[in-house]
Amino acid sequence: MKYRVFGSLEDVAQFKRTLPEFFIVDNEEFEFQIYVVDSVETLLRLPKSFQKKTFFYIKVKDQKIFEKLSLYRVDGIIYPPLDKNKILNKLNIDQQKLSDSLEIIKSRVIAKAESLPSLPDIVQKLLKLTTNDKSTFKEVINEVKKDQGLVGKVLRIVNSPFYGIRKEITSIDRAAILLGMSTIKNIALAAFSMDLFNKNLVNYNTDAKSLWLHSFVVARIAEEIGKLHNDLDSDSLYLAGLMHDLGKIILVDFLTKPIVFAKDEDEMFGINHAETSGLILKKWNVDDSIVNAVKNHHNMVDDDVYSIAVYYANMLSKMDDFERNMNELCEKLGISLFDLSPRVEMVLQENYDEFF
Ligand SMILES: [Fe+2]
Ligand SMILES: [Fe+2]
Repeated sequence: MKYRVFGSLEDVAQFKRTLPEFFIVDNEEFEFQIYVVDSVETLLRLPKSFQKKTFFYIKVKDQKIFEKLSLYRVDGIIYPPLDKNKILNKLNIDQQKLSDSLEIIKSRVIAKAESLPSLPDIVQKLLKLTTNDKSTFKEVINEVKKDQGLVGKVLRIVNSPFYGIRKEITSIDRAAILLGMSTIKNIALAAFSMDLFNKNLVNYNTDAKSLWLHSFVVARIAEEIGKLHNDLDSDSLYLAGLMHDLGKIILVDFLTKPIVFAKDEDEMFGINHAETSGLILKKWNVDDSIVNAVKNHHNMVDDDVYSIAVYYANMLSKMDDFERNMNELCEKLGISLFDLSPRVEMVLQENYDEFF
């Protein structure tokens, strides 16, 4: 539930602590509002009636305030100390009901995530492939070749500006020779994932192509970060980047209006897209380090190198606060900015959007 608080920063923080399940907004999308009254002057400045559910929080004991209160038409008055149950009573909200309905929708989201088909054989083989596994690699390439749709997608990515190949490559074998096994494996995963994103994502203010492209860029940045740190496996990070926002394709079926932040999902469903992506990957038997990093990609978790890498790969892909994020990332992982910068810039410089 969204509400608005008119008061000092400290008041806002206090309400936040008292009602952790509710969300404070500063736009018109609130369901109720609270005006903090700390003096009679404040009170006199307020409108006498309100269109939406409104409460006054009378912070000070002042006879003058009490005398004037009857002039105002509000839905309730709150007095200190702030107490959750007291407020919920005033709001006429049955907390049990509130959490019950969240539980129901959350279980529906989880059931939907669980109902996604398991990974095709070929993708499972790709995931298990290691760099010294040359014979299986051949086998996998042969399987990729059987799926013409997949071949087309792989070649489209191979020939994208990122890989910097001037002469167009028209066969998978040639691509494998030029780019190496690990790159081809990752490109095949990216090609496979294109179909997963095929959904109407307008409530996330994006579309299938853009979300896939974003995921691919995050995958590439995460992979580059992984190459610079001994405790990180860059292929795992690539996979984490590729799938980090996959939960959106599940949650979007439950969205009835556009949303911007992961916390809006928490509020509506009791689960957000990062956790949902984690559930999907868990179901696919992906390694726990990847599952955790994906789950945490909107929360900074300081003590897990995989989570740090995916969190910052996602931030860097958006290019907001780029310098600061680069510095923080390098500091947290103990890697050199000098080494990382050219790698990340290489990923971000191309205008993929025109290409794919
Ligand atoms: Fe996300
Ligand atoms: Fe993302």
